[in-house]
Formats: sequence, structure tokens, C-alpha cells
Amino acid sequence: MKTLAELNAIRDRARAQIGALRDSGENNTRLVVGMATCGIAAGARPVLATCLEEVQRRGLSERVTVTQTGCIGVCRLEPIVEVFVPGEEKVTYVNMTPEKVSQIVAEHIVNGRVKMEYTIGANQ
Ligand code: FES
Repeated sequence: MKTLAELNAIRDRARAQIGALRDSGENNTRLVVGMATCGIAAGARPVLATCLEEVQRRGLSERVTVTQTGCIGVCRLEPIVEVFVPGEEKVTYVNMTPEKVSQIVAEHIVNGRVKMEYTIGANQ
């Protein structure tokens, strides 16, 4: 059993880590994967894993953050990946697969060219 002081110290360390996480990468490009149950059922887990792998493999970790969110609101188009590039409009990619995510990282994140055919606008 931990003492109250030890528990407070653990809490303070956790808060400091969370604060550092929130502060870091404020100007980063963000890849956000919808991980509601509908997204998971449609294959969001391997999509999220591929986002992480591609960012790591290409050495983009310093400027690209991969996160997950819950319901994005369009179950029928899951898995969905939203891309937030600072200073640009959000781009929403739908019906994602690991292969498509690899293309998005290469084209959109690395080369700055939106893959229009995978966007929500092209798939309504
Ligand atoms: S429950 Fe599927 S997008 Fe919200």
C-alpha cells in the first residue's frame, strides 16, 4: 500500500507528463483516426497501426502526431482519418485501409498533395 504522499507524487508526475504531451507538437501535423466501435469494426485498428508505423518508418515523429478520437459521425464511411496540417483546412479521408494510409502519408504528409480520391468529398 502506498502512502498518501507517494500517491500525490505519482499524480504530480502523471500530470506533468500529460502537460508535456499536450504542449509538445502544438504546431505538428496531426493524423487523427476515428476509433468508435463502428470504426474498429470497419478496420480502424490496423489503420491506426499503419499510421504509427509509417510516421516512424519515415522519420516524421518530430513533426507528425498520430492520435485517435471517438465518433466522427459518419459510420458508413469508416475507417476515417482526419489530417490537420497547421495553417490548412482539415482533410477527411474515408474508407481507409492500411494501403491507403501509406499512400496518404507519402503523398499528403510528405509531398503536400491531398489524395482527393480518398476524401469525404469524393465519396459522399
Ligand atoms: S458511431 Fe460511427 S461515427 Fe459515430
